Amino acid sequence: MQKRLLLLFRYPGQQLNSSEIKTFISDIEIKLRGQLSSIKDIKGLEDFRVQALGKKSELYSVLRNIGELPPEERKLAGESVNKLKTILEQEISVLEAELKKKAGAERLIADAIDVTMPGEYKRLGALHPVTQVMEEIVEIFKPLGYSVVHGPEIEHEFFNFDALNIPADHPARDMQDTFYLGADTVLRTHTSPVQARTMMQSKPPIRVLSPGKVYRSDYDVTHTPMFHQIEGLYVDEGIKFSHLKGTLLYFAKRMFGQDTSIRLRPSYFSFTEPSAEVDVTCVACKGKGCRICKGTGWLEILGCGMVNPNVFKHVGYPESTTGFAFGMGIERIAMLKYKINDLRLFFENDARFLRQFS
Ligand code: PHE
Repeated sequence: MQKRLLLLFRYPGQQLNSSEIKTFISDIEIKLRGQLSSIKDIKGLEDFRVQALGKKSELYSVLRNIGELPPEERKLAGESVNKLKTILEQEISVLEAELKKKAGAERLIADAIDVTMPGEYKRLGALHPVTQVMEEIVEIFKPLGYSVVHGPEIEHEFFNFDALNIPADHPARDMQDTFYLGADTVLRTHTSPVQARTMMQSKPPIRVLSPGKVYRSDYDVTHTPMFHQIEGLYVDEGIKFSHLKGTLLYFAKRMFGQDTSIRLRPSYFSFTEPSAEVDVTCVACKGKGCRICKGTGWLEILGCGMVNPNVFKHVGYPESTTGFAFGMGIERIAMLKYKINDLRLFFENDARFLRQFS
């Protein structure tokens, strides 16, 4: 068509009559309408718009070459082209609106959410069993008037050892147990330094619990380099060993059940005197003797004692001050309570293990 068109207009001498011009333009119209009717999307319509009405279109070339027509035919050619142009523009915009509407509807369908489909199941997290047991212990002691205090995990040797009457040559300071961060800075090996810090900051009566992380260089089925302890401290005038025993019996019954008894065995901690280790009735056999309690009927749960007068001296308390302290491993309590046999399970973050406590 383009070729024919150029031919038609190339030679000024050539005369075109009005019917030839009409046929020529109506040929263009027929062809363009055919193309228009097969357009399916916006992109196709844009291409068509450029091709049918743009600078390189046949219609445009008619207008461009109109001067080469005989003067009496120019008006007719110009009018016919402009009429077709207007019609095409109108039809393009109608089709454009239709196609846009169709595309919008298709997008709606594609993006639609089927509310009847089963949802993506998101598991709810839960408190770690160590945290749960820690909170449980705190709740048990609250009615006795204990409040919670915290101390730093990076601790000065003075609070971790000296203030607790642990002399420099004490085996507990051995490099094998203690992580030293500097000449006199350690990762606390127990929560007992919080006792010393609390006493230095406040005056009796004191009734505090101090839960938190502690660190020891140790790793096997019953030891991990980090574990949790909770410390209890009661300081006042006239505190006796029987108060300590009564407190611990109350705790043991609340924690392991009313049928639980406790047994105190003499022990040694440099910051308590006298000191004891406390056992509870075996949670598995209720005292009959089994594999878990190695046939004894008892399970060790904590260390305790009457605060050593040397500690009171270190923190500047009068000689008449009395008090008791106890400290226990939270994982150990959790292991007994939930009959878990490997301490390391607490720190492996295996969801199958943790899920059992949610
Ligand atoms: N701090 C001791 C330990 O880690 C436990 C303890 C606390 C003992 C308080 C007596 C009094 O083994």
